[in-house]
Amino acid sequence: MAVKDIVDALRDMTVDNMRLSELIKDIKLIGSTLEVVYRLPKKGLEDEIKQKTYKALEHVPDVKTVNIRFAEGVPEPPPAFGQPAFTRRQVEGVKHLIAVGSGKGGVGKSTVSVNLAVALLKQGYKVGLLDADIYGPSVPTLLGVKGERVHVDERNKLIPVEKYGLKVLSIGFLLPSEDTPVIWRGPMLMKALTQFLFDVNWGELDFLVLDLPPGTGDVQLTLAQNVHMTGAVIVTTPQDVALADVKKATSMFKEVNVPILGVVENMAYFVCPDSGKKYYVFGKGRVLEFARAYDLQILGSIPMDPEVAETSDKGVPVVISHPESEVSKAFLGIAKLLSEKILRR
Ligand SMILES: Nc1ncnc2c1ncn2[C@@H]1O[C@H](COP(=O)(O)OP(=O)(O)OP(=O)(O)O)[C@@H](O)[C@H]1O
Ligand SMILES: [Mg+2]
Repeated sequence: MAVKDIVDALRDMTVDNMRLSELIKDIKLIGSTLEVVYRLPKKGLEDEIKQKTYKALEHVPDVKTVNIRFAEGVPEPPPAFGQPAFTRRQVEGVKHLIAVGSGKGGVGKSTVSVNLAVALLKQGYKVGLLDADIYGPSVPTLLGVKGERVHVDERNKLIPVEKYGLKVLSIGFLLPSEDTPVIWRGPMLMKALTQFLFDVNWGELDFLVLDLPPGTGDVQLTLAQNVHMTGAVIVTTPQDVALADVKKATSMFKEVNVPILGVVENMAYFVCPDSGKKYYVFGKGRVLEFARAYDLQILGSIPMDPEVAETSDKGVPVVISHPESEVSKAFLGIAKLLSEKILRR
C-alpha cells in the first residue's frame, strides 16, 4: 500500500469545506502505523479531523494504527471586519508587490513573471523581479544573469542585479551552486526567505514581481501571511490537472486574504505558422469556466510559441527578442490591464 492510496482515501473526506488531503503537512507509513501531521485550519476542529481520518481509513487494509498530530502555528481566528488578518510587512521602497503563483510546477510561472516584469517596464514603470522559487530558481537563466554575485550596501542590504532595466534578485544567486539541493527546512528556510525579502535595497519601485515556488505549501503560505502584497496573479494552463491545483492555489490566497488580481492562461493555444489558424491543443474554455466559478478576471491568454523556450534559454525574454509576436502582445496586454487595475484601486 502506497502512501498515495492513503492520501487518496483522505481526499474524499472534508472538514470545514476542505479535503483532509489538503491539510496534510507530513505523512508516513511505518509498518502498519500511519503517522499524519495536519495543518489545523481553525482551532476546535481537532476532534472532527481525527474522527473523519479514522473513518476514511477504516477500510484501508494495511493501516492498523493511526497517530494524528497537529502542526503548531494555528492561524489566528478570522479578524473582525476591517482589521488586517496578519501583521504584514511592506517591502521597503516598493509601491506594489505582485505575487505570481501557480498550483502546479511547469505551467510557465517564471516565464510569465519575467515577461510581465519587462512588459511593465516597457510601460514606463520602475520594476523589480524577485525570484523566491527556492526549489528551482530559473530567473537567472531566463534573464541571462546566472552566476552573478550579489553585493550588500552599507546598511547590509542586498543590492539587486540590473538587467534590461529591471532590478533582479534571485534566491539562486545565494545558493552555493546549481547542483546543491536546497535542503533547508522549516523555520530555517522561512528565516532565510524572509530575510531575503526584506533586506534588499530596491530603491524606489512601482512594481515588484515575485515569482513564488509552485504549489500551496508552507513557503507560499508564510510569505503570503508575512509580506504585504498588492495581490496575486495565478498562472495556469488549460489542462484539467493544472486546474485542480490552481483551485487549491486560489483557495490559499483567499484564505489568507491576499486579493487575486486575475488569472493568466498560459499555453492557451497554438497558432499554425503556415495557416495562421489557432489550435486549442489543451482544450478551450476551461479556464474561463474556472474564472467565472471563482469570480476571477482572466488577464490574458498566452499562446504556445517555440520562440518562448528558445529565447528563454538564451537569457532574453520574448517580450524583448520578439516584441511584435503574438506572445509579446499578450504579455503587454496583461501588463496594461494589471497596472491599470492596481492603480485604479
Ligand atoms: N507560452 C509558452 N510557449 C512555449 N513554451 C513555454 C511557454 N510558457 C512557458 N514555456 C516553456 O515551458 C517551460 C516551463 O516554463 P517555466 O519555467 O516558466 O514554468 P514554471 O511554472 O516557472 O516552472 P517551475 O515549476 O519549474 O518553476 C519552459 O521551458 C518554458 O520555456
Ligand atoms: Mg519557475
